[in-house]
Amino acid sequence: MSASFDLAIVRCGELLTLGGRSVGPRRRSEMSEIGLIRDGVVAISRGKIVWVGTQKEYRRRGRARREIDAEGRVVMPGFVDPHTHAVFAGSREGEWAEKLRGVPYLEILQRGGGILSTVEATRAASLKSLTERAETFLHKMLSCGTTTLEIKSGYGLDLSTEIKILKVIERLADRLPLDLVPTFMGAHAIPKEYSDRFEAYVYQVIEMLSTVRSRARFCDIFCEEGAFGYDQSRRILEAAKRAGFEIKLHAGEFSDQGGVRLAAEFGAVSVDHLDHIQSEEIPLLAQSGAVGVLLPGVSHFLMAKQLPPARALIEAGVPVALATDFNPGSSPCLSMQEIIHLAVRDFKLSAAEAISAATINAAHAVGMGDQVGSLEVGKQADILILDLEHYEELPYFFGVNHAAKVFKKGKMVYQDR
Ligand code: NIG
Ligand code: FE
Repeated sequence: MSASFDLAIVRCGELLTLGGRSVGPRRRSEMSEIGLIRDGVVAISRGKIVWVGTQKEYRRRGRARREIDAEGRVVMPGFVDPHTHAVFAGSREGEWAEKLRGVPYLEILQRGGGILSTVEATRAASLKSLTERAETFLHKMLSCGTTTLEIKSGYGLDLSTEIKILKVIERLADRLPLDLVPTFMGAHAIPKEYSDRFEAYVYQVIEMLSTVRSRARFCDIFCEEGAFGYDQSRRILEAAKRAGFEIKLHAGEFSDQGGVRLAAEFGAVSVDHLDHIQSEEIPLLAQSGAVGVLLPGVSHFLMAKQLPPARALIEAGVPVALATDFNPGSSPCLSMQEIIHLAVRDFKLSAAEAISAATINAAHAVGMGDQVGSLEVGKQADILILDLEHYEELPYFFGVNHAAKVFKKGKMVYQDR
């Protein structure tokens, strides 16, 4: 039998399939199983993976119509970035200088800076300029190997600007070879015009839900001191569930407000940050089915004193994912490669665990675990050829882009030279 494949990527020195025995996200020691095939081949037809195996087996089966030579390098699934705030205007490097001098993130927010200064700039920006800016960012992400990402609204905090941001995400999805997962985050901060009327803004967010429902898959809440507390988050979650949203939560970034308990109760798909999770909440999170999304770019950029208990989470059976949290205040980082480096260095994940967290578990964190995140037959051909011989070099050589070629749905969408 020959030429049954449109395309084959051949001579993959280390082919990381991330194929697993279980269908769900990877837990505990499964996170170390990256499905490594030495001297491997991955074959593609009509944008999907149709065959994976060794070079020897492939030679017996015949050839594809077109072959791309990986030249003995590392080949793996495209990164999935399950937590970003990529649509915004302005930037906040001045505030970062203050943070470096010791001014806390939440203090800057309280005085009307932080998220609220980005809200002001984003409200004033046109749909066109927001789209162009975000497109530049997303191109950089793609060139660093991200092939699927989640994007949150949340720099509008009024109905028209929240819709403007969600429309930008729709335009970007039309323009770019990326899968984008839109999240409504009207509950990101309390806008200035509601500063002394918190409850009225909670009501406002609940009112917005039905209007934005058709434009967003997930609803997310910044469950935090100075943002949305336990009771306020609970009311928004009840309404979001009724409106048919799937749930994500920012929980435990700077303090514990009971976000993990809420996530478990409301069947959240992911709970993100977790720096301040209480130890008794860890088994609850493991049983809840939610993916725990860790954001080492935030800990690094804000010089956090307390890191999430990554090892305890993995040992307890929480499926851990990684994300950039790309945003102008706490993590202006576009590259999942950098995040993998930080996760290994600071959170003590192994290279294999970090790779599982940035691919298959991240795919589950955006509800796309059946389509992307591993190189298994039937899944989308979202594939990276990295300029590396061994996968352990991915976190090790830091500060450079290792992506030599990026494929989305079987098409080459980036090449380094
Ligand atoms: O995940 N904490 C809330 N949201 C972002 C920060 C957004 C911003 O500072 O603009 C985060 O850290
Ligand atoms: Fe965030």
